[in-house]
Amino acid sequence: MNEAIRPAPESAQQAIGLPVLSVVVPSFNERDNIAKLYRKLEATLTGIAWEVIFVDDNSPDRTWEVVRDLARTDRRVRCIRRVGRRGLSGACIEGILASSAPFAAVMDADLQHDETQLSRMLQLLQGGQAELVVGSRYVEGGSAESFNKQRAGASAFATSIAKRVLGVGINDPMSGFFMIRRDRFEQLAPKLSTQGFKILLDIVATAHGELKTVEIPYTFGSRLHGESKLDSMVALDFLGLVLAKFTNDVISLRFLMFAMVGGTGLFVHLGTLFLALRLFGWPFPEAQAAGAFVAMTSNFILNNFLTYRDQRLKGFAILGGLFAFYLVCSVGLFANVGVAFSVYDQEPIWWLAGAAGALMGVVWNYAMSGLFVWRKR
Ligand code: GDD
Ligand code: MN
Repeated sequence: MNEAIRPAPESAQQAIGLPVLSVVVPSFNERDNIAKLYRKLEATLTGIAWEVIFVDDNSPDRTWEVVRDLARTDRRVRCIRRVGRRGLSGACIEGILASSAPFAAVMDADLQHDETQLSRMLQLLQGGQAELVVGSRYVEGGSAESFNKQRAGASAFATSIAKRVLGVGINDPMSGFFMIRRDRFEQLAPKLSTQGFKILLDIVATAHGELKTVEIPYTFGSRLHGESKLDSMVALDFLGLVLAKFTNDVISLRFLMFAMVGGTGLFVHLGTLFLALRLFGWPFPEAQAAGAFVAMTSNFILNNFLTYRDQRLKGFAILGGLFAFYLVCSVGLFANVGVAFSVYDQEPIWWLAGAAGALMGVVWNYAMSGLFVWRKR
């Protein structure tokens, strides 16, 4: 490292007012909670050089505006307003990476996480007892009073799957409340998934037991204003993360969903073909083409709703996306047939050639759709 820009030791950093702790707060439609959280942080973090980084996904209720107003009165408040993107994990990752403090915490904006634990968490990191401190609902002294029965059951079930399948050693890997050494986080960051809700589980699974972790109990409170953004899709996200980590990131949930949607397309195709032939008495080539057309359309709609729901195309963009999708799939068909032909040429086994072609087709369609239809903005 360049001598001239070697960072000052922590005590000196604190003395010249550089933050030692960045509190990263993802937010979406939380405008009524921001000021309250800020005041609570200010009250509890006395004697600590802290900053708070709100990462807001362009909330329709203009939460970011409230944060900006605060930031104009206090330099410890920072605002990252992301446009065209959604996702809790991604927001947390960007927030932590935007910090230069040696320690970063993640907590909800809605006051469900107990901010009075932060200084103790920081002590554990600074003292070297831990590289990651997790606020846990499921260790002695912790609780999740505000959960209804259904959600408590789901949470416990997911936790036990994570422990068994991924060998995760902590009791509350689904917690959204933790503090980590930023240098350790930066090492892991490139491997983390920006999709979904379960950033802590991702961190712990990705670290493969190499992260010294301490859990401390806290009580998961009730939401002050607004409502939870966790919906039934969270279960899908969770499954995807487990799958990805289990296969060492070889299979992603997105690809699997894309392939599954492709599978439903087969049925749509056959159904349309049947109707066109039997009901409307179309000649076979026309009926077959209609089948392909309807199947591509339904695949597009399903992918837009499920596979790419975090990048869902809306309004006019749907039309453009649909045509791009038709184009991608048409080329994919050539790739499919081409590969099937060359496999059959070497080894005339019909199902092997057919399967190789289909695999080529789905991989092509997936890769190209990611580039041309649901482009990351
Ligand atoms: N930037 C951004 N983008 N923030 C988001 C998004 C998003 O797409 N979705 C949710 N948030 C913010 C919310 O505004 C809130 O501050 C925080 O992330 C958590 O979302 P909630 O909707 O309040 O989730 P929850 O209370 O049901 O669950 C939370 O606590 C659980 C227990 O610790 C989450 O943190 C879970 O991950 C956690 O398991
Ligand atoms: Mn919450």
